[in-house]
Amino acid sequence: MKNTMLQHFEKTFGDTDGVRVFFAPGRVNLIGEHTDYNGGHVFPCALTIGTYAAVRLRKDRNLRFFSVNLNKKGVIHSSLDELIHINEDDWANYPKGVLWAFAQHSFLVDQGMDIVYYGNIPNASGLSSSASIEVLTGYILMKLFDFDLDFKKLSLICQYAENKFNGVNCGIMDQFACAMGKKNHAIFLDTSNLKYEYAPIDLGDAKLVIACSNKKRGLGDSKYNERRSQCEEALARLKTVVDVQSLGDLTEEEFEVHKGVIEDEVLIKRAKHAVYENQRTIRAVAALKNHELETFGSLMNESHTSLQYDYEVTGMELDTLVETAWKQEGVIGARMTGAGFGGCTVNIVKNDAIHAFIENVGKVYEEKIGYKADFYVVEIGDGPVEL
Ligand code: GLA
Repeated sequence: MKNTMLQHFEKTFGDTDGVRVFFAPGRVNLIGEHTDYNGGHVFPCALTIGTYAAVRLRKDRNLRFFSVNLNKKGVIHSSLDELIHINEDDWANYPKGVLWAFAQHSFLVDQGMDIVYYGNIPNASGLSSSASIEVLTGYILMKLFDFDLDFKKLSLICQYAENKFNGVNCGIMDQFACAMGKKNHAIFLDTSNLKYEYAPIDLGDAKLVIACSNKKRGLGDSKYNERRSQCEEALARLKTVVDVQSLGDLTEEEFEVHKGVIEDEVLIKRAKHAVYENQRTIRAVAALKNHELETFGSLMNESHTSLQYDYEVTGMELDTLVETAWKQEGVIGARMTGAGFGGCTVNIVKNDAIHAFIENVGKVYEEKIGYKADFYVVEIGDGPVEL
């Protein structure tokens, strides 16, 4: 891949003298959805697919960005003195946001760069293509400018970029998972204090299969921020009767006792998901540690149902993929992953059933939805590296 990236760079910017090549993963969340901005737990893992970049420092303060995937947009020009969000800059607002966020945290970049990006994760699909670009860009800055920061801090700065520069009030999960990835492990992260633990993922005779709905989704124009404020409102009402910092502090029983104070049916459903999903995630990780993969799978299924009926972030495309998956032989668990509203599902499928799974789910999906889904059998990989 290094050579391919060097070729892309040469084609775009002329030659490859002094060019360095880097990679950062995408992620899939196994369970714990929409809990990360509610002080709950998440359980994502980094993938071996993600984003590559070939980069060279410039002598001036100019920035030139090119995406092989979005090559129709051409080279996007900016400068270290113009780090503001500009709609026409499209995807390049992600790397620009990271440069801006580094400066905000006193990591000052004083030389421009030419960068070519190429991603082998589908865009806007719920596998964190944007966090992958952000973490990759931040890692490049760490390496090129010798900034002294660890991967946890890197993920926080990248989240800051997404929140403040790109206007998506996302939690920490995606940036954390991309930065802190570990081969064959998922990250059990408590988002209330960023304490985490790596849990080995041994699926025995099964694999992770991602089904991509190909329904495009951008968090900015989705209902993501609305869900977040609904949870905040429900929490504010609960706080009038119970001493908690976040919805993640509540057990299911405590929630059932106090939920009446929320009064609004929709807000109760949103908060219920956040509370139950957090407890489900804790139980799911315990089951995995006990090698109870079937229990883990059932909890994944329950997670989807809660996202479908209580959090209402699935939609016909994801529901079709998941409900069809549940009917297939050899499926241990299936749920939507990421923010929802389109994007991907994650499935644990027995090796000898994968072929039929892809064929059958793909057929039903195309018949019902009218276009194809894509399937990826994925491996769990490490965080960012220089190639
Ligand atoms: C997006 C956000 C994450 C998280 C998920 C939902 O991926 O970026 O912070 O909230 O949605 O779990």
